[in-house]
Amino acid sequence: MITDINTTFKIGNLKLKYRTVPAPMAGLTDIAFRKLLDDIGYIGYMVSEMISAEGLIRRNERTFEMLRLSDFKTPQFIQLFGYNTDSIEKAVKIISNETAFDGIDFNMGCPARKIVKKGAGSALLQDLDKVKDIVHKIKNATHLPVTIKVRLGFGLIDIFNIIQVIKDAGADAIAVHFRLRSTPYSIPADWDYAKQIKDKTDTILIGNGDIANYQTALERLKLVDAVMIGRGAISNPLIFSEIAQKKDNSELKEELFLKLIDLIEHYYIEDLKLPKLKPFIKYLISERPDAKPLRLKLYKAGNIREARLIYLDNM
Ligand SMILES: Cc1cc2nc3c(=O)[nH]c(=O)nc-3n(C[C@H](O)[C@H](O)[C@H](O)COP(=O)(O)O)c2cc1C
Repeated sequence: MITDINTTFKIGNLKLKYRTVPAPMAGLTDIAFRKLLDDIGYIGYMVSEMISAEGLIRRNERTFEMLRLSDFKTPQFIQLFGYNTDSIEKAVKIISNETAFDGIDFNMGCPARKIVKKGAGSALLQDLDKVKDIVHKIKNATHLPVTIKVRLGFGLIDIFNIIQVIKDAGADAIAVHFRLRSTPYSIPADWDYAKQIKDKTDTILIGNGDIANYQTALERLKLVDAVMIGRGAISNPLIFSEIAQKKDNSELKEELFLKLIDLIEHYYIEDLKLPKLKPFIKYLISERPDAKPLRLKLYKAGNIREARLIYLDNM
């Protein structure tokens, strides 16, 4: 087990400088937000929003747009989801042969009804033969490192069997969100499983759930190989430099919203700019004392330029 915060770790043959990972989040960890994080740095690797294997093999335009990469200095993983093993295998080959992604993460944790209904996301955790088949096929279809993101189980805790199957099928690391599919966010993630998993298995374990500040991250890093941070990273993208205990860049905090607007302006066509910004409004200004009234003002913006002016007026 690694104990030093600043040690490197490996996923497959990929050596990572930091033991921190922003969690994949649909509608949030797009190219613009990942670029914002990349500029801040101190991150081991990043994961895209979840991308449909079916959409990818049909070469759906919207899906392909999510494959865009930039001149990132942090390794970039793509997160795929799906049910059909052949489609997943084909999608993995497209990623490996036609893109510059550094790794593949597969989603076995999504609790959303529309995904679960199709047998994908966390629904897969109910069928470990299927899990084994998918991981095996992904590994055989790519030279890239492969990680799998799971929850503790679907309806009941089954994490030890889940990990064993995924590991035996060849995955290079496993990210565990320490909740069941059915556990709401109001119930804390159960980090007791982190130690039990590390004691019982030699998995490269990436722990996820409820890390809202760097102090908690440093505590959690004693238990796992890397920490994966979702909502905490959207609310405070500087959490990664805080964890690395690098220079205080709190003066940057106020500017992050404007930087994100710049990046969205750069990467998206006009019609998509405001819709892309909107999901961040809830999080990115949440630590400000005037978060609520500012949020209401920002939600009323008619376009992204108006949103920028409203923010500037309130700086
Ligand atoms: C808005 C939102 C979107 C999410 N989208 C994804 C996703 O696309 N893929 C995935 O594996 N997890 C997704 N998650 C789950 C997160 O990756 C993470 O497991 C969860 O938020 C717990 O971590 P946190 O407490 O640090 O936020 C999403 C979570 C949120 C809040």
